[in-house]
Amino acid sequence: MCLGPLEAFPEGTLVGLTAAGQRLLVVRLGETICALVDRCPHEASRLSRGRREDGTVICPTHGAILDLKTGRMIEPPLGEPEFRRDGQTVPVRVVDGMVWACLEGPGRQRA
Ligand code: FES
Repeated sequence: MCLGPLEAFPEGTLVGLTAAGQRLLVVRLGETICALVDRCPHEASRLSRGRREDGTVICPTHGAILDLKTGRMIEPPLGEPEFRRDGQTVPVRVVDGMVWACLEGPGRQRA
């Protein structure tokens, strides 16, 4: 499914959108486009409302830190040092200046 032109994803900006009925967080990091399901693995907050720091996103609710490329939870939520659950990555690639994600269902909408 096409998510839009590469220019719609400014370098380092957390972009939240809905595609195929699924909320995604899409981030351009240099030559790489990263996409995660826009749902924190802790209590389902929208990661796209968080903050990017280098190659990570910090959840706005309890501060869990996830790697944008792998979804791996680098730091657990505040106050829950034992909590470890990774975010879900979505395969994406750029073809002829357009960003495509491997999803099924109806079209894309801005979140
Ligand atoms: S909802 Fe994201 S850290 Fe709790």
